[in-house]
Amino acid sequence: MQITPLSDHTGAEVRGLDLARPVPQEVQAALNAAFVAHSVLVIRDQALAPPQLLAAVELFGCVFAQHNTRFALPDCPQIHYLSNQDRFPDGRRYIPGEGWHTDHSNDTRPPKATVLHAVSLPSEGGDTQFANMAAAWAVLAPALQQRIAGLVAIHVYQSSHSARKLMALPEAGRERVPNAVLHPLVRIHPENGRPSIYINPIRIEGIVGLDHQEALPLLDELLRHATAERFQYRHRWRPGDLVMWDNRCLLHKANGDYDMEETRYLYRVMLQGEVPRA
Ligand SMILES: [Fe+2]
Repeated sequence: MQITPLSDHTGAEVRGLDLARPVPQEVQAALNAAFVAHSVLVIRDQALAPPQLLAAVELFGCVFAQHNTRFALPDCPQIHYLSNQDRFPDGRRYIPGEGWHTDHSNDTRPPKATVLHAVSLPSEGGDTQFANMAAAWAVLAPALQQRIAGLVAIHVYQSSHSARKLMALPEAGRERVPNAVLHPLVRIHPENGRPSIYINPIRIEGIVGLDHQEALPLLDELLRHATAERFQYRHRWRPGDLVMWDNRCLLHKANGDYDMEETRYLYRVMLQGEVPRA
């Protein structure tokens, strides 16, 4: 197995590994260490059926129950799918993952990681972009670091300030999804100790103790800073890719820049995380 960095701050490519076969303990340890160090693992050339995918991701943790069960695979509901072929009730196409976000931050214990496995890809476009929130924090102006270090944000399923509208939750299982949770605006990574900006434009409804006139421009400023190109790794999908990223220290977004007549379909699994700590 070879592990090669994909940029100087985010991402590593893994080759020479077949996750459909048993993975020795020392390889598992090396993969986990690479994940914590690089925040994104791109494991090439996999061909995993849903049960094999579940077994593979359990090398990294326990599976997290995703919120919107309408996207669950009927035969393997711990795995959801992402597809550009779904539509809102009014007929508009639903393009999953557009706009910068971190997954399921409206949970009291948001998933530490999300895993996607490509099943069908458009012939071009549909990249996933990642922005490294630890790198962005490290060079944030000290005055701004001080200003946000003690702040707490309110996360909800769908922020009223979000430009992107999510698919409504089905009635069944809705009670599992909290109405609102509080998370620090700067969180410490539980495994490597690095502080990260922890924002989410589709989920943050406000900041405790600040009115909207103060909170929204602050969140905009942080988002603009943190998603600058120098903090990004842009993933161009290849057939067989399995990509796993760290939601604790990254924002990500999918690009809806491809031919929508072509199907973009990926399996998605998430792994349980911790309560975010400042
Ligand atoms: Fe996402």
